[in-house]
Amino acid sequence: MPLQQLDKTQPKILVWEAFDIHDPMTLAAADLYERTLDADERIPWLWIEQSVQDRTRCKPRPGEWSRHLLLAAPAGRQDDPEALAGYVYGALLPGFGGYLCYVGVAEWARRMGVGTRLYEQFFKVLRVDAGERGEPLPFVIWESHRPDPIAPASDWDNWTARIRLFDRVGGLWIDGVDFLAPNFAWDDDDDDAPPVPLQLFMKPMDTPESAFTPERLREIIGSLHREVYRNEPGSPLYDKTLPPHCQPRLRPARAAAVRQTERGELVVPATV
Ligand SMILES: CC(C)(COP(=O)(O)OP(=O)(O)OC[C@H]1O[C@@H](n2cnc3c(N)ncnc32)[C@H](O)[C@@H]1OP(=O)(O)O)[C@@H](O)C(=O)NCCC(=O)NCCS
Repeated sequence: MPLQQLDKTQPKILVWEAFDIHDPMTLAAADLYERTLDADERIPWLWIEQSVQDRTRCKPRPGEWSRHLLLAAPAGRQDDPEALAGYVYGALLPGFGGYLCYVGVAEWARRMGVGTRLYEQFFKVLRVDAGERGEPLPFVIWESHRPDPIAPASDWDNWTARIRLFDRVGGLWIDGVDFLAPNFAWDDDDDDAPPVPLQLFMKPMDTPESAFTPERLREIIGSLHREVYRNEPGSPLYDKTLPPHCQPRLRPARAAAVRQTERGELVVPATV
């Protein structure tokens, strides 16, 4: 059913920015974050909490990331932790673009347009941020972990949900690259920690889609490694993500829905 039809029967969903780490709604977001994302896919919540707290102390200085945690709940229930419908967390990276780190929607609130609403509000917040700094917002980029071929059906269903959400908000898949990120679920000093291969998605904002050539995409992917993970060219994760033959290109998000079976066959789920 199209989301517009659902809107008439569902309560209006409000989205606002969290500024208080002790607020029960922010604590509910921490709980939802840990329930909806695998340990391999997330940073410690404490880091997010820290960035919320920093925002209340001072404005980010020129060149500093400006981070945002947005929360969603039905109108009139913004004080009820049980009614937390979802959250999104990400940042404007000056001189680079927008980076959406995490999004999650409570089970009871799924397929009601909450994920879409959170993405759209996040895009708006970053536009304002970039405008205040007198910068354009060329794109917003995000990562997502595609399940293994042998992952349970529920993981693949969630992948389908993600892809449809990305498609709905105008996201495009950066095909041709596995972005290798460090695994935060492992000890920092553990050299055996397997990297997490991520798919990349982006929404062109002030820059037209045609400007994202393979060369430009390689630069953006390299900058993502440097800006977010502090990986420079020559480091294993950087070099394995961008081997010389890698030619990334933008494709519709739905193209990323393809699932590889254990036998190596490619299958497009019927629901996409
Ligand atoms: C992925 C997730 C955020 C989607 O949130 P949501 O609020 O249900 O999404 P929306 O209601 O805005 O729906 C967006 C699109 O996805 C589709 N969709 C949502 N859930 C779906 C599902 N389980 N199966 C198929 N399509 C689904 C909707 O129909 C809609 O597509 P349409 O406009 O073509 O009809 C939510 O399922 C979730 O929190 N999953 C667990 C955490 C997670 O994976 N986060 C993403 C990390 S990158």
